[in-house]
Amino acid sequence: MSTFGDWINKRFPARELMREHMTEYYAPKNFNILYYAGSLLLLMIFLQLLSGFLLMSHYVATSQDAFNSVQGIMYDTKWGWLIRYMHVDGVSLIFILLYAHILRGLLYGSYREPRELLWIIGYVIYIMMMGEAFFGYVLPFGNLSYWAGQVITSIVHAIPFIGPQLATLARGGPGIGTATLQRFLALHVVLWFLIIAALIVMHVMALHQVGSNNPDGIDIKKHKGPNGVPLDGIPFHPYYTVKDLFGVGVWLTIFAAIILYAPTMHGIFLEKNTFFRANPMVSLPDVTPPWYLAPYYAMLRAIPNKYLGIGVMGLAIILPFFLPWLDRNPVRSSRYRPWYRAMIIIMGITFLVLAWVGEQPPLPKYFLIERLGAAIYIGFYLLLPIISSIEPTRAVPERVTK
Ligand code: HEM
Repeated sequence: MSTFGDWINKRFPARELMREHMTEYYAPKNFNILYYAGSLLLLMIFLQLLSGFLLMSHYVATSQDAFNSVQGIMYDTKWGWLIRYMHVDGVSLIFILLYAHILRGLLYGSYREPRELLWIIGYVIYIMMMGEAFFGYVLPFGNLSYWAGQVITSIVHAIPFIGPQLATLARGGPGIGTATLQRFLALHVVLWFLIIAALIVMHVMALHQVGSNNPDGIDIKKHKGPNGVPLDGIPFHPYYTVKDLFGVGVWLTIFAAIILYAPTMHGIFLEKNTFFRANPMVSLPDVTPPWYLAPYYAMLRAIPNKYLGIGVMGLAIILPFFLPWLDRNPVRSSRYRPWYRAMIIIMGITFLVLAWVGEQPPLPKYFLIERLGAAIYIGFYLLLPIISSIEPTRAVPERVTK
């Protein structure tokens, strides 16, 4: 008897896809809590799309009305506050997940052969997300939006040769105004977002081409049973779909608690100056970026020379692309590499300190911390080829551990 499923399957390879990517996709059985981040990122991107779509139905992208339209969403639109906070807090939660996801990659050597391209696509997504967040940040046209737009476009302005033209192109004129808002809106919701969505599809395709790594950094395909199935692998569905669903439940509870009880996170997720209208006459003495961009801002400020500062920041952003080739040790996971693990811990703490100092006013007393932080962060990548080739390693087990 022909079922609805058969009807679909004759016209679309639903069962084949399900088999290939779910029920017969064998993932290592030793995933830990850090492996929740990938699926939660997919969920959060979907929620951003949903809340963003609803915000769009009330938002007006002109310098005259943008601020009022967002206040209208917050105070005069049914459930508008919920939708706006979903979108605003969603950004910070996405960056928390991104950093957890990247940390996992570092800890278990998930960037190593054969996952180099998976890593590179992921890192491009991260950089694109910074741009996406920046475009969105300017849209509500609060005073911080205005001055953040000024600061970032002036960094673009400082790029040698093409900078001034590029900055004018980004602003849509000499200053930040309606033309800026309209092109930022178009980028935020159409072009930039579509590129990110396409990159996410490529990221997951690349993952399924090479298979998942695991906390031991061992290739599970080396030990297969007589049926050709990896002995340390379990079908993604139902085992990991159920596990991920549990993660979704916990994560959405945290998300709801933040929106309902601390939507601005005391100014960390939504700064005070976003509640005041954009005003070119009232400059903000110390414009600092949101927390997730602050480490790079601290590195920019570490060097008093504008061009050198941009160079140091650019280096810090670019170096992780080369990680697959900077790490020379044959062992992947930091579980068996005490030196590498120590380096990751020091680099991670440095990144947090840089995030904190990037939020402080630009005072001389912070210079030393900024410089030391920049040196340690960049030093991690530059010293890795040497340290990874001489570091002692512990014996790696043949099969994955619990
Ligand atoms: C919105 C952005 C992203 C989404 C939606 C996403 C999604 C995913 C998903 C669903 C997985 C498989 C599940 C898992 O292993 O957690 C994954 C794995 C992976 N991702 Fe991402 N990712 C994103 C950003 C990134 C970034 C920024 C990087 C690195 C710079 C990255 C690197 C990796 C790597 C190396 C793996 C394989 C990890 C392993 O097998 O151990 N991803 N990603």
